[in-house]
Amino acid sequence: MCGITGYVGTGRASRYVFEGLKKLEYRGYDSCGIAAIDGRIRVKKATGMIDEIEERINLSELPGCIAIGHTRWATHGGVTVENAHPHLDCSGTIAIVHNGIISNYKELRKELEKKHRFTSDTDTEVLVHLIEENYKQNLEEAVINALKKINGTYALLVISSEEPDRIIVARKESPLLIGLGDGGNFVGSDVSAFLAHSRKAIPLDDDEYAVITGNSVEVKSIITGKKLDKDILEIELTEKAAMKEGYPYFMIKEIHEQPSTITSAQNIYPEEIHAVAEAMQKAEKIYLAGAGTSLHACEVAEYWFSKIAGELVVAVDSSELENRAVVDNKTLVIGVTQSGETYDTLSAMRFAKKKGAEIGVIVNVIGSTATRFAEYVIMQSSGMEVSVAATKTYTSQLSVLFRLAIELAKLEGKDIKVIEEEFDSILDKVRQVLSIEEEIKGKADSFFNVSNYLFIGKGINTPTAEEAALKLKEITYLHAEGMSAGLLKHGTISLIDENMATVAFLPSDIENRAKMLSNIQEVSARDGRVLIISQGKVDEDEVISLPDTSELLSPFIFSPVFQLIAYYVAVKLGRNVDKPRALAKSVTVE
Ligand code: F6R
Repeated sequence: MCGITGYVGTGRASRYVFEGLKKLEYRGYDSCGIAAIDGRIRVKKATGMIDEIEERINLSELPGCIAIGHTRWATHGGVTVENAHPHLDCSGTIAIVHNGIISNYKELRKELEKKHRFTSDTDTEVLVHLIEENYKQNLEEAVINALKKINGTYALLVISSEEPDRIIVARKESPLLIGLGDGGNFVGSDVSAFLAHSRKAIPLDDDEYAVITGNSVEVKSIITGKKLDKDILEIELTEKAAMKEGYPYFMIKEIHEQPSTITSAQNIYPEEIHAVAEAMQKAEKIYLAGAGTSLHACEVAEYWFSKIAGELVVAVDSSELENRAVVDNKTLVIGVTQSGETYDTLSAMRFAKKKGAEIGVIVNVIGSTATRFAEYVIMQSSGMEVSVAATKTYTSQLSVLFRLAIELAKLEGKDIKVIEEEFDSILDKVRQVLSIEEEIKGKADSFFNVSNYLFIGKGINTPTAEEAALKLKEITYLHAEGMSAGLLKHGTISLIDENMATVAFLPSDIENRAKMLSNIQEVSARDGRVLIISQGKVDEDEVISLPDTSELLSPFIFSPVFQLIAYYVAVKLGRNVDKPRALAKSVTVE
């Protein structure tokens, strides 16, 4: 996690860096800091979210045309000013910001402490002292020699007041992109850090480093030292995506963007979908690997592949793929990851690649690591998602996966005309759901007044229930569990009392509707309160009625409802909706 950014050129560097940190704050937000060079290195750092500390980091006290910055999600060492980056060497002439984990930092620190003065508990600080140790006259050489002594992962930026015209940057398993600007160059954990000033980016790959000055960028291999020719990525994203446009939070803006993000997914070139469907048809085993919300999208898709295409496709928690899956050269592993940077999902993809499997990915962030080593890449094109809680990217992942199931079914000669046509008109139904926002808000106010919730669903809405529970707990901090309605009676039902309310997803399909209604009766019989989110009418007290669809498409209809419920409950409880405590949008650690 953590976001890093830097600028070198002719402009006021600390302002560019501060602006970039605001955009990267979703990657971590417990503390932040900037180092700038104006004759000497000056550092400002503070704990808290970036908006709160703007005054304390007085940018007028950070002059100069070269600066680096960091927004932190603590891993090694608590949330303190001392542990916030940038970190300095003993002489105060070298500064570093780092995203990643140095796994051999304890041994290194023990050795370095004999000669160097440490001021933090972080793993990162060993790196700056190692660079100091290796520094003769050349920062580039010192950084590379230091990197050869460490194990672990990094994206890092290093500056020195001895060579104030350059930033040395390096990458191993943590994202880093260079932005080419007029009058100066940028670097950031993702393109949002510099999108306002540059639409041309060079993504670094693992084991690469670069020397960046105001008017040059030289990329080299850390292993061979050889200069590399890198492609320049033209970025089409508009900066508007990173603005709230009148909404109080990004989350509610993003919930409302779903008709347009589902449309984008429906408009992805058929050839891209076809290529992956063909690879699926060829493969003997197929796994979908994701984490959190992306895992739930994989689980929904498992039902589509089975019911529409008649194919067994296994959804796996990406952190468990290595433990659980049987992977060989006849296997296809498709990573599903909004950020394209989730450590667990990238590790699963890397593991599968080593075993000879083909790798695909469904991903949102342009230039992200996942896009750079998968054979098949489907960009979901949902635009930037700023809120930590995933909403629009979830239904967009669902749309891509649904199209894949349809394409695979076609390749296998199945008649899928009816469901395909219904999917084409799903947007109207999603809009209808969003139009009853006030009613949903009313239920969020009246029903959600205890501290424990069970979400239940059946079949394809079992993952819907899991995702609904995740959404509620991550932004409200209330306890919630999601499961199949059938599983409830095998233990969890004993928890039902006046402090444990139940939310049930009721589809139109007669068979599963009847089974769900009987599970709901079991809860009511134990005096449990139940809110029924139902397609079509139902004769109960607490109900939100939604438009009908075939059951296979019902996750598209239920999703905006549970997203809005979580949002309004969080607002009612006064939570920081877009930046829930202890979380970060990209989970780049194991
Ligand atoms: C929940 C949420 C997380 C992510 C998970 C995977 O709202 O956003 O559970 O879904 O960390 O992230 P990606 O999709 O970027 O791999």
